[in-house]
Amino acid sequence: MYSRLIGTGSFLPGNPVSNADLAGRGIDTNDDWIVTRTGIRSRHLAAPGVTSSELGLEAARRALDMAGVDAADLDLIIVATSTPDFIFPSTACLIQGKLGNKGATAFDVQAVCAGFAYALGIADKFIASGSHKKALVIGAEVFSRILDWQDRGTCVLFGDGAGAIVLEASDKPGILATALHADGSQSGILNVPGQICGGQVTGDPFLRMDGQAVFKFAVRVLSEVAEEVCAAAGLSTAEVDWLIPHQANIRIIEATGKKLGVDRGRIIVTVDRHGNTSAASVPLALDEAVRDGRIRRGQKVLVEGVGGGFTWGAALFEF
Ligand SMILES: CC(C)(COP(=O)(O)OP(=O)(O)OC[C@H]1O[C@@H](n2cnc3c(N)ncnc32)[C@H](O)[C@@H]1OP(=O)(O)O)[C@@H](O)C(=O)NCCC(=O)NCCS
Repeated sequence: MYSRLIGTGSFLPGNPVSNADLAGRGIDTNDDWIVTRTGIRSRHLAAPGVTSSELGLEAARRALDMAGVDAADLDLIIVATSTPDFIFPSTACLIQGKLGNKGATAFDVQAVCAGFAYALGIADKFIASGSHKKALVIGAEVFSRILDWQDRGTCVLFGDGAGAIVLEASDKPGILATALHADGSQSGILNVPGQICGGQVTGDPFLRMDGQAVFKFAVRVLSEVAEEVCAAAGLSTAEVDWLIPHQANIRIIEATGKKLGVDRGRIIVTVDRHGNTSAASVPLALDEAVRDGRIRRGQKVLVEGVGGGFTWGAALFEF
């Protein structure tokens, strides 16, 4: 039994915010620095009060619509997010309630920018086991809420958004291989080291990062995990039609493509217009490429993510 992708959807809040717009808001930065170092030209930022569940709900509706699936028929809902609406209930339960589904298994996955790869890998295992038949997998983030807007080294890199897919059980090939990994010894190079205790925020509630350490780690594990899922599926990277890496930085994406021997023409890139939307980045890019006709039925697609934890993972599927 395979899990097969039958619908994609995505949603970006508001209008694009350019690098010049950020400089105009008093951040000591400029378009040239950001574009040269990251490839990012703009990102979307949610208006105050707009939550991950609202973004995720809109992406989910679009994916369900493409799949022709009624939300009531879902039996699994997984949301990857590091910026949930609440401590609890989970964002998955909030979206389930807004969709009007009752009874499905619903929970959040916290693997930061590898969150979508994790959620997809978990959903695939639920379906392959035979216990579940129709899954909604969402990556939704309002990362702008956990950015220190005084820290120009991080605040220019991220954006808000959501992407979703619908999977169903099928005897035709769908997901061919997945791999999920973590190394908690690297928790110090990318984190939000705060907590709520006794009604107060304690520690530091903003994203902190050692950019150069993250860069090196990301390129290494993104190429390793891509090779791993290809080997598990008995394919070479040359047989992959499309690579959709986590959209953090064009230089990380290009270095990963080079290591894997995948040329730029086979890599889906949205980081220039979305920035890093963490768990939403891969399903946003996937939806864009499905809707504009680049990804076609029967093609092999490799998606992969890497993020705080450190966590990393990949899935290889036939669309
Ligand atoms: C963050 C990143 C772009 C920084 O690039 P870098 O070449 O390592 O740059 P540095 O941090 O060494 O900073 C170089 C200079 O630019 C300055 N700078 C930092 N942010 C700036 C900004 N937004 N605008 C202008 N100048 C900036 C720094 O203050 C520093 O100046 P100094 O030399 O006078 O001290 C890069 O390390 C990176 O992309 N890392 C990976 C981040 C990532 O993808 N994280 C998410 C993974 S899921």
